[in-house]
Order: sequence, then structure tokens, then C-alpha cells
Amino acid sequence: MLTMRLALLSLPFVATLASAILFEGCQQKVKESIHGPPNGWYKYVPAPKHHILELKIALPQPKFPVLEQHLWEVSDPSHARYGAHLSKQETKELMAPHPETLAVVRKWLALHGLAEEDITLSSANDWVTIRVPVGLAEEMLTTDYHVYKHAQTGESIIRTMSYSLPEILHDHVDLIQPTTMFARFKAFKSTLHWTNHVQPIDSSPSGSTITGPAGNQVDASCNNTITVSCLRQLYNAMDYNTSATNGNILGITGYLNESTNNMDLQQFYQLQNPSAYGSNYTSVSINGGENNQSYEAAGIEANLDTQFGFGLTWPTPGTFYTTGGEPPFDPDLLTESDTNEPYSYWLEYVLSQDTIPQSISTSYGDDEQSVPRSYATRVCNGMAALGARGVSVIFSSGDGGVGDGVAYPDKPLEHQCYSNDGLKTPMFLPTFPASCPCVTVVGGTINIPETAANFSGGGFSNYFRRPSYQDDAVLAYLATLAPGTYKGLYNSTGRAYPDVSSQAVNFLTIYQGQETPVDGTSCAAPTFTAFVSMLNDARLSAGKSPLGFLNPFLYSTGYTALNDITEGRNPGCQTEGFNATVGWDPVTGYGTPNFEKLKDLVLAME
Ligand SMILES: *[C@@H]1O[C@H](CO)[C@@H](O)[C@H](O)[C@H]1NC(C)=O
Ligand SMILES: *[C@@H]1O[C@H](CO)[C@@H](O)[C@H](O)[C@H]1NC(C)=O
Ligand SMILES: *[C@@H]1O[C@H](CO)[C@@H](O)[C@H](O)[C@H]1NC(C)=O
Ligand SMILES: *[C@@H]1O[C@H](CO)[C@@H](O)[C@H](O)[C@H]1NC(C)=O
Ligand SMILES: *[C@@H]1O[C@H](CO)[C@@H](O)[C@H](O)[C@H]1NC(C)=O
Ligand SMILES: *[C@@H]1O[C@H](CO)[C@@H](O)[C@H](O)[C@H]1NC(C)=O
Ligand SMILES: *[C@@H]1O[C@H](CO)[C@@H](O)[C@H](O)[C@H]1NC(C)=O
Ligand SMILES: *[C@@H]1O[C@H](CO)[C@@H](O)[C@H](O)[C@H]1NC(C)=O
Repeated sequence: MLTMRLALLSLPFVATLASAILFEGCQQKVKESIHGPPNGWYKYVPAPKHHILELKIALPQPKFPVLEQHLWEVSDPSHARYGAHLSKQETKELMAPHPETLAVVRKWLALHGLAEEDITLSSANDWVTIRVPVGLAEEMLTTDYHVYKHAQTGESIIRTMSYSLPEILHDHVDLIQPTTMFARFKAFKSTLHWTNHVQPIDSSPSGSTITGPAGNQVDASCNNTITVSCLRQLYNAMDYNTSATNGNILGITGYLNESTNNMDLQQFYQLQNPSAYGSNYTSVSINGGENNQSYEAAGIEANLDTQFGFGLTWPTPGTFYTTGGEPPFDPDLLTESDTNEPYSYWLEYVLSQDTIPQSISTSYGDDEQSVPRSYATRVCNGMAALGARGVSVIFSSGDGGVGDGVAYPDKPLEHQCYSNDGLKTPMFLPTFPASCPCVTVVGGTINIPETAANFSGGGFSNYFRRPSYQDDAVLAYLATLAPGTYKGLYNSTGRAYPDVSSQAVNFLTIYQGQETPVDGTSCAAPTFTAFVSMLNDARLSAGKSPLGFLNPFLYSTGYTALNDITEGRNPGCQTEGFNATVGWDPVTGYGTPNFEKLKDLVLAME
């Protein structure tokens, strides 16, 4: 086989010979494997040999522990280096692979006919991207790709159960995808109400008020329907004006071709924040992501996120990232879409930028177990790098309570809440990226007084250990559980989430010209992020650094400026789920923001 390739391809002779010698006699050894496709997926047909795969190869980051040390120091308000965020160049150097790694991987690629111009490197050289036909990928990875179909949704993807690499490469490659990853990264939005295009009836007499979580009077209608004004009233930011010019930016991410419709946005502004009417945002397309302005192409998730995010923070400039994740598709395949992983593309892009929005909200995710641990770790490292650069990275916690990370109304209960390792062990299903300890995760609340929204995703990671910043909070919660509670269903040593929460029900969104109520932690993430953006605004205007990674602050002092949610729970997996309690809990975290109190705290910090 080796000789055949040498004869077939016109490669620079020296490189090829060197490669051949390096890999000569080297055994192929399994790098990663899964026992079978996750629930819902079945093997359909062998993947066509000429279908092009965009393979991402993650190279190890030997200096990552140093980067992580920086992250903890610059994010800890009690540390002398608080706020001393890293530059793009510094971060890049700490994410870079060992030079030898790059050389060995290049030689391996050359051996398979891939020349320098066929290889794309990320700015830190830690990801290598190549586009190869399935046939060549199968040869390189000693594997067979198949088309897998999803029984309920009909989605198709090209994946494999296992792949191998020459033994000598194992220490030089963290992972290669798409291979074994079946994650679907659904948007965290509930579709309970919006399809009806009906507004909930508000029976409160106009002008009447009730007491909000901060103790002030708020419109009684806010107990029923959430608007920009309600959120500013509830979270005590009525009179705060942001700056358009102090360098602060709010980022909203979009995936799955979710487009944010500008006509809808302007209609939303007219109704909910007239001073923002006529303003615009920056749309950034990554990896072919769309922001199609046709009315029919509007995405409910993208509309919700941008309308409330930008609507709350105007005139802070807004950036909408739309990241595509589909390689070109072959029409002779009977498949609809080839969903690829999206986060590494987004991370590669933002980390290569000199300026990054200081606060970024994401309302997408999937079950942790559907994401290979190797991939989850690499993406989480990327989030850590963003934190080290001074970005507050914020995710929604999921809409399935302790259960499936995404609410699938059509998915029978008995298909949820089992391990996918072949053992079918009953378990709660944590959500990724929420389970990454280097991001801030937002759960959901409902009503006034606020109680936990019953869909609020919460639980414990099976991949990531509990970070020390949350030891006290989580141990105190675990001590409230009766001995043996949910034994075996959750991992008490794992990173626990959410960290915080916000209102998440009946957000009055404009969708295709209609006022459309939306539910889900998708509502909570952009809301909490908007208040973080306002805090960053206050700090920047005071000549201070942005807040960056929030959790060390939130768990040390920030929690004192949050409204503790002590009622409600997050049922799932045929259990009652966890309870919201006094202090931190895996339903609402430490609670919802009190902006004025938080502002006093963050302005008192270095
Ligand atoms: C915010 O701006 C409005 C409108 O310009 C103004 O009436 C209000 O006093 C400002 N609030 C503060 C706290 O500066
Ligand atoms: C996104 O748009 C691209 C380009 O129009 C298309 O090829 C792809 O199938 C779309 N993906 C989804 C998930 O709709
Ligand atoms: C608003 O911004 C979007 C995305 O950046 C752009 O496509 C559109 O043309 C802009 N609209 C106006 C009126 O400037
Ligand atoms: C935009 O969306 C419309 C409606 O879904 C579709 O007909 C059109 O082809 C899309 N445009 C592009 C450039 O993908
Ligand atoms: C808000 O609505 C809930 C549910 O309808 C109700 O139980 C609660 O009493 C209301 N709050 C106030 C302050 O009226
Ligand atoms: C969650 O609460 C809604 C009302 O807000 C209710 O209709 C639904 O049945 C509850 N779901 C569960 C699983 O308790
Ligand atoms: C529990 O979490 C730890 C990390 O905190 C992990 O090492 C371990 O494998 C997890 N256990 C299971 C059963 O997943
Ligand atoms: C939640 O609270 C209820 C009522 O106090 C209690 O019966 C139940 O055991 C608690 N559940 C958990 C998981 O702590």
C-alpha cells in the first residue's frame, strides 16, 4: 500500500521518503472507539467513497496547564493578577502544539498525498483541517465510514465506530472528527407555545404593580409576559444607560443556519425599545454560516437571542456569529444534512481575532455523552482560552431538567436517561458545553416571586471534575440531600451546573412579524449575558478591565448580589429532579441578577 501511494502521487521525494521511514513498521492502533451508535441512530449504508469529509485533527496543547493557571489567577477577584487578561499572542503560544508534533503530523499527511496547500492550520496551530474523500480517510484511519440515520428525525450523518492511527502518532494527536461523534447540538428552545402564535392572556389591570425580586415595584404584566422592560425592572437596571463607544460589545452565537431577521428585529425594537429602532448589528459568518434575510428563513432561536440580547443592552454594539457546520453534500446520497461539529470552527475564528466581544451568549448544546470526552475537553480548553483573554462565555443549561439535555416532545421517556456505552445504565443526562467548568451556565425561572422553571437543565458532569471554585457551594447542597438520593444517577464529583439563572418563560419575541411567546433556557442565557454586558460596560467606562471568566467572582462574592431561588425543581428521567434550595442548587444555581448590587460589587473590584 505504501509503495503504491509513492508511485501514484507526485510528492516531493525527500519528504515522502522521510515519512515512509518514520512510519515504517509502525502498527495502526485504535485511537478512539464507541460501542455502537447512540440511541435513535442506526447504520444505513456504507458511505460513498468519493464523499468529501472535512476532518479536524486536534494536536495536543502541552502548555495548556500554564494557560489554565493564568485563567484562575486573572479571574479570581482576590488575586493580585485579577483582570490581567492574556493577549491573543500569549494565548496562542500557550495553545500551540510542540513543534515536533506538527512535523510528525505533516509527515503522516504527506505520506497520504496531502501537500502543504491541502492543510489548514488554526492560528495557534492546534487544529489541522484537511478535506479528503471518504475512501482516503478510511485508509488513513483504518476504518469504514457509514451513513447513519436518526430514526425519529431522519437526519443522516457519516460516522464510524472506531478509528486507528499509527502508534507513533498517538501522542501527537488528541482526536480526529468527524469520526465517532453523534452530537446534534440542537438549539435550546422550547417550542411549546410559539407555533400557535398566540399570546398568553394577561389578566392584570393595566398600571397595576407587584413586588419584584429586588424589592421594587414592577408591572404586574411581567408575571405573565416577559419584555425588555420587564427584565430591566425585575433585575434592577431601570435607569442604567450603556455606552455606544467605550469598546464594549455583546456577542450572540448562532448555529444550524439560524438567521436573525432584521425586519423582525426592527419591529421588536419599535415595540420594546423604541430608542434602538433603526440601529444595526454586525453579522459575522463563519464556515459558511447563513444569515438569510428572507422572512421565511428567520430562526426563532436567533431572533429570540438577538432581540433580547441587543434590545436589553442597546446602544452597546452587537455582534451575531453564524457558524455553519456542513461539508458540501453529495446529491446521490439520500441524506438531508450532514451535521458536523460546530464549536471548533467558532473557537478557531474568535481566538484568531484581536478584539472579541467581552460577553458572549450561546443557547445551543447536546447531551454530554453524545460528545466524545476528547472533543469535549478540547472545546472546553478553547472556552478557557476565551476566559483568559477576558471574555465572559455564557451558555444555557438545557431544557430537559435532569434528563435529556434537549426537550424532545416526540421522544418516548423510555428512550431517555440511559448511558450509551452499551450498558444502558439508568442515569441523569448532563449537557455539554454546560458541563465545561470554564463557562458560566444559566438555568431558568418563572413567575414572580421567581421559582425554578421545571424544564431548567441542571446536574453534574461525568467528564469534568468539580472545579475548586464551587466546592463549598456544591458540597453544601449535596449535604441537604437525604442519604442515597438518586444513587448512581448522578456523579457527585462532577462539575455542577447551572451557576446562575434568569426568567425563561413567555418571552415576547417577534417572529415573522408576529408577537410570539418563547420558553426555554434559550431565553435565560441572552438575558443573563445582557446584564453581564452591562456590568462590563460599567467597568470599561470606569477604566477597569472586563470581567472575563465570571465563576470565581460569582462563587466568592457575586452570589451575594443574586436573588436566591428557593422554590421549584427540575423533574426528568421519571424522577422529581433536584430541588431549588437556599444557596446554590443544580436547578437555578445561585439565582437571578440584581444589577445595581452587582454593579456596586464589580466597580469596587480592581
Ligand atoms: C439615561 O438616559 C435617559 C435618556 O437620555 C435619561 O433620561 C436618564 O437620566 C439617563 N439615566 C442615567 C442614570 O443617566
Ligand atoms: C445551511 O445552509 C447551507 C447552504 O444553503 C445548506 O447547504 C445546509 O444544508 C443548511 N443546513 C441546515 C442545517 O439547514
Ligand atoms: C444590518 O446589518 C446586517 C448584518 O450585518 C446587514 O446585512 C444589513 O445590510 C444591515 N442593514 C442596514 C439597514 O444597514
Ligand atoms: C433564503 O431562504 C429562502 C427561504 O427559505 C430560500 O428560498 C433562499 O434560497 C435562501 N437564500 C439563500 C441564499 O440561501
Ligand atoms: C404570579 O403568577 C403566579 C402563577 O400564576 C401566581 O401564583 C403568583 O401569585 C403571581 N404573583 C403575584 C405577585 O401576583
Ligand atoms: C411544567 O410546568 C408546566 C407549567 O408551567 C406544566 O404545564 C407542566 O406539566 C410541568 N411539567 C412537569 C414535567 O412537571
Ligand atoms: C464521574 O466524574 C468523574 C469526574 O469528576 C469521572 O472521572 C468519572 O468517570 C465519572 N463517573 C462516571 C460513572 O461517569
Ligand atoms: C425535594 O423537596 C421535597 C419536599 O421538601 C422532598 O420531599 C424531596 O425529597 C426533595 N428532593 C430532593 C431530591 O432533595
